[in-house]
Amino acid sequence: MTKVKNIVTLGFGDMGKGIAQICLMGGYNVIAVDVSDEIIKKGLEYNKTGFEKLEAKGKLPAGVSAADLMARLSVNKDLVDAVKDADLVIEAVVEKLDLKQKLCNNVIENSPDHCIFASNTSSMSITEIAEGCKKPQNVIGIHFFNPAPLMRLVEVIKGYKSSDEAMDIGVEVSKSLPCLRGERFVARVLKDRPGFIVNRVLSPSSMYSNYIVDLAYEKGIPWEQIDADLSGPNAPMTSLTLSDFTGRDIALHVSEYYAEKLSPDFKPGKVLLMQNKEGKLGKKTGQGFYDWSKGRPQPDLSKKAGLVNRLVFAAISANEGCRILEEGVVDSWKVIDEAILAGMNFPGPMKYATEHFKELSDLLEEYSEKLEKLYLKPCELLKSGKFVDMV
Ligand SMILES: NC(=O)c1ccc[n+]([C@@H]2O[C@H](COP(=O)([O-])OP(=O)(O)OC[C@H]3O[C@@H](n4cnc5c(N)ncnc54)[C@H](O)[C@@H]3O)[C@@H](O)[C@H]2O)c1
Repeated sequence: MTKVKNIVTLGFGDMGKGIAQICLMGGYNVIAVDVSDEIIKKGLEYNKTGFEKLEAKGKLPAGVSAADLMARLSVNKDLVDAVKDADLVIEAVVEKLDLKQKLCNNVIENSPDHCIFASNTSSMSITEIAEGCKKPQNVIGIHFFNPAPLMRLVEVIKGYKSSDEAMDIGVEVSKSLPCLRGERFVARVLKDRPGFIVNRVLSPSSMYSNYIVDLAYEKGIPWEQIDADLSGPNAPMTSLTLSDFTGRDIALHVSEYYAEKLSPDFKPGKVLLMQNKEGKLGKKTGQGFYDWSKGRPQPDLSKKAGLVNRLVFAAISANEGCRILEEGVVDSWKVIDEAILAGMNFPGPMKYATEHFKELSDLLEEYSEKLEKLYLKPCELLKSGKFVDMV
């Protein structure tokens, strides 16, 4: 198996600069490529100040200084020149399929034979990104969570043509990248399906939250009361604040994506469509569910609407977990729970489901009727409880 020494990060934006940081801390030489001088300047500054702060706190690897790490980082705007000695290229450019395909092709053409091209895409098919390039066996997904230095999870994704060797290298390198908050967890994604593991398992819960939000709107119930229903006790942000923070345009995009790839039942709810039409996109426009004009809102959660059955979320997620087990995306329910804990900082749904699959299946029968969403019906693996043996 090739020993990886030289990594190129393609795209030095939000994700690329964090990926470069952990690759340097993992002991690799890094060349960062971007088309924008301003982004390159910001990325270098981010890494330099980040390393200096870590050095001051004594958090750099033993015997390594901030200056040592920066000495192993270089930047290059010329992709062809940057990849000529690359063992691994991790792509984190904007989410556009034709751009990713073009860069993949270019990297494979101009890098050494053994070089692996890994995409950090959140939503695209690795198989499609590799389409048309000469060595699709060298193309995999390495999906980091934001920010990469702090979020423990990395999903390593096998495209239909990715070789086992490329996957093994992707997993080995990912495991070697330090995480500043706990131990890194690397999940092997065995099949290239929309959303991979974590995003996929959590995606259909939006059907229920859209239903609740639409119902509250019809009944004239204040968002704060719905937020009190939806928000978990120890979450760093309330549910609707988080939704505003991420952006209601992103929520619309995600709904449309899964509606196209998985089922029309994912189509957006009325409130989501209305917010997008009116430009109430959340933090970025100053208004979403809440007013952001004076900074992050502090909703009063003292009164609940009492519309939400939180167990429904657990049931929907466990059902989706069973679906990806059925599809062969993963082969163990424990991996799903570990991935969700590492990627989202809250427990996954599967352990609970191993003891309560009958109750959760009944609940899903009831709510699939109520919401008129066939997609929410329990799948065979959940109903039968046979997933319990897939450890
Ligand atoms: N932001 C997140 O939360 C997150 C999480 C996981 C995965 N991702 C994925 O990571 C990727 C990057 O996301 P981001 O949030 O860092 O975006 P970003 O917009 O912050 O950065 C993208 C960078 O790509 C650069 N770029 C554009 N064309 C280029 C080219 N031809 N060559 C080199 N660089 C080029 C841009 O100048 C920009 O700096 C996307 O595929 C996204 O889906 C993002």
